[in-house]
Amino acid sequence: MEERFDDSRYHCVDPEFQDAITRYSAEVRAVGRADHRAGQLKVERSMRNIVVTGGAGFIGSNFVRWVMERDDSVLITVLDALTHAGNIHSLDGLDGERLNFVHGDICDGNLVRELLASADACVHFAAQTHNDLSIASPDEFVRTNVEGTFALLEAVREAGIRFHHVSTDEVFGELPLDSSERFTEESPYRPSSPYSSTKASADMLVRAWVRTYGIRATISNCSNNYGPYQHVEKFIPRQITNILTGRRPQLYGDGRNVRDWIHVDDHSSAVWAILQEGEIGETYLIGAEGERSNIEILQMILAEFGLPRDAFDIVADRPGHDKRYAVDASKIMQTLGWRPTHTDFEAGLRETIAWYRDNIDWWKEEKEEAEQRYRSLANDRRRNREQDCWHRT
Ligand code: NAD
Ligand code: DAU
Repeated sequence: MEERFDDSRYHCVDPEFQDAITRYSAEVRAVGRADHRAGQLKVERSMRNIVVTGGAGFIGSNFVRWVMERDDSVLITVLDALTHAGNIHSLDGLDGERLNFVHGDICDGNLVRELLASADACVHFAAQTHNDLSIASPDEFVRTNVEGTFALLEAVREAGIRFHHVSTDEVFGELPLDSSERFTEESPYRPSSPYSSTKASADMLVRAWVRTYGIRATISNCSNNYGPYQHVEKFIPRQITNILTGRRPQLYGDGRNVRDWIHVDDHSSAVWAILQEGEIGETYLIGAEGERSNIEILQMILAEFGLPRDAFDIVADRPGHDKRYAVDASKIMQTLGWRPTHTDFEAGLRETIAWYRDNIDWWKEEKEEAEQRYRSLANDRRRNREQDCWHRT
């Protein structure tokens, strides 16, 4: 596993922090589960010490920032393996007194048992998340997404703490392009890719652990996120950073595939609402009615840079490429009163473009590596196609 953890400001299981957590948890447990209001956040008094897996990734780090900026009573321990998608600098600027970083693997049963034993809750973001990589090498997706979730569930069972599992709308498979149908909590699971099938498997494990062992868990399935700190391998940051590095944007197939976009802060507020007030055993879909085709988004990005609408390359389509995702988020809105606040997608996209323009140091090293991986993927696919032709003749 690739690693680049070298920042001395973060440490692995700092004993002082651990003591503080233990004292704090004891105090909080003594007070009981009375709710209180702190700033804009409602924090259950029994959930102040939270382990966030994958907290150096895109959504995990935004979630940590979102929570810490709104409540100064929450202590967070990030557990992250710092794969190519994790970046310790995504946590820069956060209060080190309230944030502990543990460099480790969610599949390490002993480590997760130790960490969860002194926590009140665990929010589970860690995963292998990129569809293109899952098609080329699914092994690591099965290991992290399925075995890692299993290790956490066993530790949660032992510690008796609250667990929130972050999943994806991709578990429901694809919807037809020209329809108004949307996913709901009742939609059947029909994952298409190695990535989405491992996420679906993890969801099944969580459901079984709730029913069989009575763990206190919830699940959310969110649509496509955008915003700062997203890895440059993903669609929106890839196109922005292609332009910023003098490359042409790359569109798969005819570009008509539709994704349902939500700002990452709206995902964070939804996860927080579920953690605080969600009903145990329930699944909540999260989405912000942000359906856009890929070509539409690409042309918005090109326009923002003052480039012609056709200044991109059409490249080979992703195998098994899902046509459309769309989420009906009525349940979380009606039962928890959650609402997205970033409802102007074009404004959010402009801010995201500005963030990548202003934070080149955060992504420039990864950019070269990500594009190198894309070149290898394209070569592998070409080789496979040639071998198929050869076998057929
Ligand atoms: P990401 O790839 O940006 O981050 C994943 C993080 O998990 C990284 O920091 C990585 O280092 C860490 N990680 C990977 N394997 C690990 C392991 N074995 N042990 C510990 N840490 C490990 O992903 P993201 O886009 O932030 O997604 C976070 C979660 O949200 C995932 O579970 C994903 O399935 C889900 N999700 C993502 C989206 C989206 O649009 N990005 C939408 C819905 C749901
Ligand atoms: O729906 C939620 C999911 O959204 C998450 O569970 C995944 O972790 C996350 O990666 C995302 O999956 P997608 O496959 O939808 O995202 P990606 O950014 O890889 O691609 C978005 C769309 O853009 C998809 O239709 C493929 C297309 N695409 C992608 C890339 C990288 C391109 O046309 N060109 C590209 O270069």
